[in-house]
Amino acid sequence: MDTIRHCVIPAAGLGTRFLPATKVLPKEMLPVVDRPLIEWAIEEAMAAGAAEIALVIASGKELIQAHFERQPALEAVLEARGKRAELAAVRHSQELAHITYCRQEEPRGLGHAVLCAAEVVGDNPFLCMLPDDLSHAPTPILAQLRRAWDEVHAPVLALMRVTPDQISRYGCATVSQARGRLHRVTEVVEKPRPEDARSDLAIMGRYVLPGSIFEALRRTPTGVGGELQLTDGISALIAQGPVWGLEFDGELLDVGTPDGWLTTNVRLARELGRGAAVEAGLA
Ligand code: G1P
Repeated sequence: MDTIRHCVIPAAGLGTRFLPATKVLPKEMLPVVDRPLIEWAIEEAMAAGAAEIALVIASGKELIQAHFERQPALEAVLEARGKRAELAAVRHSQELAHITYCRQEEPRGLGHAVLCAAEVVGDNPFLCMLPDDLSHAPTPILAQLRRAWDEVHAPVLALMRVTPDQISRYGCATVSQARGRLHRVTEVVEKPRPEDARSDLAIMGRYVLPGSIFEALRRTPTGVGGELQLTDGISALIAQGPVWGLEFDGELLDVGTPDGWLTTNVRLARELGRGAAVEAGLA
């Protein structure tokens, strides 16, 4: 099958970059302007055409689930007090998407988190995004990747040029021929040492992947940091057929570290005004 229905969103991480705020509160529930950052991520997935969200969570992350469930007592109070805008906001999050929760029992890496969604996604191609960065682009970044996939019908990775001192924080992609901003990817390496990096193109946490990635991940040995790396699974896909990388238009705004989160909140609050995020089409 060749139809994209699902978006896999790994949200099982320990949030170590944001301690102590994330000691109990899931990182994904931190607010960005007026809503938790996971809601921004799901809005972006929907804008890219996802009909089903596979949200990978770990124990201790139940608050995420509660946010997307009905809260009848709260609704009743808002209704009784005639608070229509607030009621609409509360209902918006629970009507936003059909979400299936996948449990990651142990923190064994991003590749392992994606593998936890295998049963939900099946053999179909799917979107995948890490919610640590918000898309800030005229066309949301995941939708740009989806369009590229419509063109090439093969895996697509979001790519961004970074400075040599930054590349070892990311998966690094080497590319050959290009169709404009769409490059054929010839090699991917997770978090190379700066002296070993063969390009300045970083993989930026947005992907269109085929169902065959799950089998590739099952065969992939543990990689950098003692974790099962999604990048290593993608490396196996490159051996099987074309993989593409899109240098996307627009920016990704970091909300996964205290500095990035603060800067992004101030910037979006100024740009959008509270409550205007959805109307502006930036989620
Ligand atoms: C993950 C991926 C990496 C990617 C990065 C983007 O790393 O493993 O390939 O470049 O996200 O943010 P993490 O940031 O989880 O260490």
